[in-house]
Amino acid sequence: MAAPVVLAATAKHTATLIFLHGLGDTGQGWASAMGALRSPHVKVICPTAPTMPVTLNAGFRMPSWFDLKTLDESGPEDEQGIKTATKQIHTLIENEVSAGGFSQGGALALYSALTFPQKLAGVVGLSCWIPLNSSFPAAKKTPDTLPILQCHGDCDPVVPYKWGQMTASKLKTLLKDVEFKSYRGLMHTSSDEELRDVRQFIHKHLPSQ
Ligand SMILES: *[C@@H]1O[C@H](CO)[C@@H](O)[C@H](O)[C@H]1NC(C)=O
Repeated sequence: MAAPVVLAATAKHTATLIFLHGLGDTGQGWASAMGALRSPHVKVICPTAPTMPVTLNAGFRMPSWFDLKTLDESGPEDEQGIKTATKQIHTLIENEVSAGGFSQGGALALYSALTFPQKLAGVVGLSCWIPLNSSFPAAKKTPDTLPILQCHGDCDPVVPYKWGQMTASKLKTLLKDVEFKSYRGLMHTSSDEELRDVRQFIHKHLPSQ
């Protein structure tokens, strides 16, 4: 992993938000959006995925957390790659308290949080899905009380809205505090309305003391 973009807290540091970008993006791409919505006591870490060949994109090399073979919810998954990336994310969150991500990054954030033995303050998943879903509930290590905010545009042409809904249903069988928010007309991107919801979630779950 390249050195992450880190925005230090501007008040006494009490919480950290780790945000994982989507396929082909960089940490820089999300750092300013996350910097704008955090509160002053929150440190933001936006890592950049390693560059690797991606099957979905005809083997072209780009920043990617793991190989994506297809965006079909019943298609084959890069189990080894997801597990290796999860180890790196676990190292990153060892001393931190929350995680989030967009699309492929959201998928890795969900998987990393569910398989992390301590409870994170919360997880935000934007336009994403749950990877290796048939390994749950067996692979689940997090306590049932982990709060999740999952957001998805209902016109997403890349990661289908229906997959987001199925992911939310699956998460609700595993955890007690899962909120799924839909955005009418939103495609595979984020919006001001969505980022306002993320901000609210962060303010609610990341302690200022
Ligand atoms: C979980 O995996 C199965 C088998 O690959 C698939 O049929 C199902 O749609 C997946 N569910 C979600 C929520 O991804």
